[in-house]
Order: sequence, then structure tokens, then C-alpha cells
Amino acid sequence: MREQIEAYAKRLKLSWIREHFDELEADSNQEYLLKLFEQEVQNREERKVNLLLSQAQLPKTGNQPFQWEHIRIPQGIDRERVLDGTFIKEKENLILYGGVGTGKTYLATLICLNAIHRFGSKVKFFTVASLVNKLIEANQQGSLPKLIKQIEKLDLLVLDELGYIPLHKQGAELLFQVISMCYENKSIVITTNLQFGQWNHVFGDPILTEAVIDRLIHHSHLLVFTGDSYRYKESLLNQ
Ligand SMILES: Nc1ncnc2c1ncn2[C@@H]1O[C@H](COP(=O)(O)OP(=O)(O)OP(=O)(O)O)[C@@H](O)[C@H]1O
Ligand SMILES: [Mg+2]
Repeated sequence: MREQIEAYAKRLKLSWIREHFDELEADSNQEYLLKLFEQEVQNREERKVNLLLSQAQLPKTGNQPFQWEHIRIPQGIDRERVLDGTFIKEKENLILYGGVGTGKTYLATLICLNAIHRFGSKVKFFTVASLVNKLIEANQQGSLPKLIKQIEKLDLLVLDELGYIPLHKQGAELLFQVISMCYENKSIVITTNLQFGQWNHVFGDPILTEAVIDRLIHHSHLLVFTGDSYRYKESLLNQ
């Protein structure tokens, strides 16, 4: 009988039940069934979150509470709406701009974690350099359409560290293609240390730069990180 139960559970893709159905105690059939279903659903949700987390490839973060004091938030959005992912539902973008160590990557990561845990959103975190490398590689290997399709399925794309490295012509054009594809379709969070006036140095070509900025800022909020580097502060504290 055990084997048959396992076989049916397998066919029905009830993997928690298949492995643990004989571990539950209950006073009635109904209570037993209820507990089985509860555990199966809970297990499924945990697996889904874990899958979304592993696909998102988020950087490791500290676990100290996020400090908002030195972040200027524009009208039209507030802390709550940044963190609760409302902007993702509205397909708006965030541009996190400021100096090194001020929390841009940290905030982008927290936004991703919340979106996954609260809404089961599909998110992916790239540094600009890593995405551009991937795009160039995919282009060379003829798998660009596949990569673009993967990005198309996301709810939120994070592009970290725009501005740290200038892009070659082909890289800039491919990145533009991704940003255009996301335009009005999904949210992008960009972190950067450069004002818009300097994005030219990254994209190399003024017309392309203008087209990128135009698309990004159309439905976006610019958060300005004005503080000193937390890395610096933390290393002083540790001395
Ligand atoms: N606002 C903040 N509140 C709490 N901790 C912070 C904050 N900002 C930064 N930190 C701490 O400092 C570390 C570095 O911050 P983070 O990597 O987010 O900086 P960044 O702005 O992305 O810098 P860079 O431009 O160099 O990439 C974080 O991992 C975190 O531990
Ligand atoms: Mg960073």
C-alpha cells in the first residue's frame, strides 16, 4: 500500500506528501487530510521562493537595518512604496544614484528580496558589466534571442553599477536593446555613481545615451544617496 501511495503522490506531483505522509498524526481523517494539504502547499511555496532566490542571483547583504537618513526620495514615491514593490506592479523604474558605499546595492537587493517573498516576483540582479558580457557572449554564440527571452519573462531587472566601466560599442548597443525591451513592460532598478550628464562616458555615443535616458526616465523615480560611505564608517568602527 505504501508503494501505491507513493506512486500516486508522484503522479500527482505531491512531493511532500510522497515523502512524509506517514509522519503526520491526527484525530480524524479530515484533520489528517487537512494537515497533509497544508504541508504540501507550504512546502511548494518554500520551494518556489528558493527557486526565485537562486534565479535572482542576489549579492550577499549585511543584516543591519537599512538607514534612510541620507537618501533623498522624490515626490510621487515614498519608502514604503520603494520597499513594498508597488513600483514593480506599476512597471516604473528606480534610479539609485550616489557615491560609493552609500547603500545603492543594498537597497536594490532588499527590494528584490521583498518582491520575491511578498509577491513571488521574478527578479534578476546583474552588474552592468556582467550583463553586457553575457549579452556579447550570447550574441557570438547565436543564443541572444534565448537570453532576451529570459529577461523578457522577468518582473524586475536590476542593473547594478552603471558607470564604473565604459562599454564598447557593441556592448552599449546590446544593453540599449535590453532597456528598450523593458521599457513600459517591466521595471528596472539601476544603480549608478554618474549623473545623467555623464552617462555619455558609459554608452560612448550621445544619440544612444539620449535614447537610453529618455526610455529610463519616462516612468522612473530618482533616489539620491547623499551620505558618506558605510564601508568606510564600518571599517572605522571595527578598528
Ligand atoms: N543606508 C544603509 N543602511 C545600512 N547599511 C548600509 C547602508 N548603506 C550601506 N550600508 C552598508 O554598507 C555596505 C556597502 O553598501 P552598498 O554595497 O550598498 O554600497 P553602494 O552604494 O552599492 O556602493 P558602490 O557604489 O561602491 O557599489 C552594505 O553592504 C551595508 O552593509
Ligand atoms: Mg554597489
